[in-house]
Amino acid sequence: MLVTLNEVLKHTMTKEYAVPAFNVFGYEDSKAVIAAAEELNAPVILATNKVAIAEMPIAVLGKMFTQLAEQATVPVVVHLDHGNDYETVAQALKSGYSSVMYDGSQLPFEDNVRTTQEIVKMAHAFDIPVEAEIGSVGYTDPSMGMKSTLTDVQEAKEFAERTGVDALAVAVGTLHRMEEQTADIQYDLIEKIQALVNVPLVMHGSTGIPDEDLQKIVKTNFGKVNIGTAIRMAFGKTLREEVTANPDAFDRMDLFKQPIQAVKEEAMKKIKLLNAHRYEEFISKT
Ligand code: G3H
Ligand code: ZN
Repeated sequence: MLVTLNEVLKHTMTKEYAVPAFNVFGYEDSKAVIAAAEELNAPVILATNKVAIAEMPIAVLGKMFTQLAEQATVPVVVHLDHGNDYETVAQALKSGYSSVMYDGSQLPFEDNVRTTQEIVKMAHAFDIPVEAEIGSVGYTDPSMGMKSTLTDVQEAKEFAERTGVDALAVAVGTLHRMEEQTADIQYDLIEKIQALVNVPLVMHGSTGIPDEDLQKIVKTNFGKVNIGTAIRMAFGKTLREEVTANPDAFDRMDLFKQPIQAVKEEAMKKIKLLNAHRYEEFISKT
């Protein structure tokens, strides 16, 4: 069923589980992620990033993802990831997205507050929750020229209060697009942030988080954990193997079978590490 971000995050403050948000790019990987969630009975978030909307119209993606979500037997959020301007967020809202992220993390603090406030006003008029970012989760490729700055605790508190965001992305030691699980998570910083900020936190760049740390962050206020590179690598690596092993194959339906299975298996692994497959058990205790 299609649900909003708030619906899946409201119980994560029990600190028993977190909901994974997977970056998906089309029909097959979205189906695989939903199949993983359904097999484990877990809520899941389908996230549309900048790479996806550079190639495909948000309106097309919105129709496809919302329909897949409506048909699913588990709660599915259709989320705009790293929306970087008002117009992109507006398109997502018009296209049925049930959650939006506005990313003003590259802007000076006051500009980030002001633009996020404008987005919150618009999205809340549609009854759609907003995630925004304070501090900057950078990228492994320095040539992208993106800032990478750990979150300042007082800024996080002020930002959350002044913007009224529903979920807050903070930078606590990850980078986007890490191919190895070597992130050094700053637990002291997480403690300080969650002592002052009372909204669910969002972890970006979570492919780089070691398995044992994924299990540990479930016990914090992180309710949404974004994973992209891990399932993209599972797809790409398996597709390369398939193409190499079957030099005469040309049919996408055949060539995609194993890669999509690999995406599903990787998604299931992350769902289990985040305890999302036990969400009903934890909800029943609240
Ligand atoms: O917003 C998306 C994520 O932060 C994904 O990061 O590709 O490094 O796992 P990742
Ligand atoms: Zn991200």
